[in-house]
Amino acid sequence: MEVKRERFKAKKITTGSKSLDELLGGGVETKTITEFFGEYGTGKTQICHQLAVNVQLPEDKGGLEAKAVYIDTEGTFRWERIDQMSRALGLDPDKVMENIYWIRAINSHHQMAVVEKLFDMMARDNIRVVIVDSLTGHFRAEFPGRENLALRQQLLNRHLHQLMRLAEIYDAAAIVTNQVMARPDMFFGDPTAAVGGHVVGHAPGVRVQLRKSRGNKRIARVVDAPHIPEGETVFAITEYGIRDSEG
Ligand code: GTP
Ligand code: MG
Repeated sequence: MEVKRERFKAKKITTGSKSLDELLGGGVETKTITEFFGEYGTGKTQICHQLAVNVQLPEDKGGLEAKAVYIDTEGTFRWERIDQMSRALGLDPDKVMENIYWIRAINSHHQMAVVEKLFDMMARDNIRVVIVDSLTGHFRAEFPGRENLALRQQLLNRHLHQLMRLAEIYDAAAIVTNQVMARPDMFFGDPTAAVGGHVVGHAPGVRVQLRKSRGNKRIARVVDAPHIPEGETVFAITEYGIRDSEG
């Protein structure tokens, strides 16, 4: 019985902040999709960089000794940042970079095709984190307005379904980001922005809302997750990466 239960148990990957890990029930989970959403500059991309590094840590340090795929739809991935974060953890930056497969997705079609291709790679290359930063950017740009909403939603749902399958089959964490406006009332032209990122609201997984606080502090809140207690926590974006905030 023990063995069987172990097979279905999700693993956790540390975010770099103990308080954020606690909020998430120990870190980001495998076999599921975790969505980080919030306005610009709230730390979505920084968390993605950190997870691409942290999945490489040994299990006793909060990793899975595995590789990451980073699907970059906005051109905001920075190898220099990976280098900084690696050194801060005492890891060899060159090795860490070798274990991150960075793919610049140029449009929504490409973004979806990349995920399809991953099914052949996950096990062979020991990939346990798949990041899509941002999930929604291309879709919003290519299918604007109410008249395109149904098609956009249909494609996004298919994309999310594939990500969920990847996560489940290969015991990997799927991490997606979603920029939402701070003032949705100002963006009445976009019906999904108006309800604050509900665009992926009904997909399975964990949704984490990020807000700015003072300086390098950010506030995280888990929303709509019945298995995770409601609550908020503060973390910091430091030169070393994602950390607990001091005081
Ligand atoms: P959008 O993609 O525009 O929606 O924003 P985001 O949520 O992805 O924001 P991102 O993760 O890019 O966070 C940006 C914040 O992280 C900035 O406001 C910086 O304060 C901080 N940051 C980014 N790079 C560094 C860095 O190299 N060192 C430090 N100390 N902070 C950084
Ligand atoms: Mg970003």
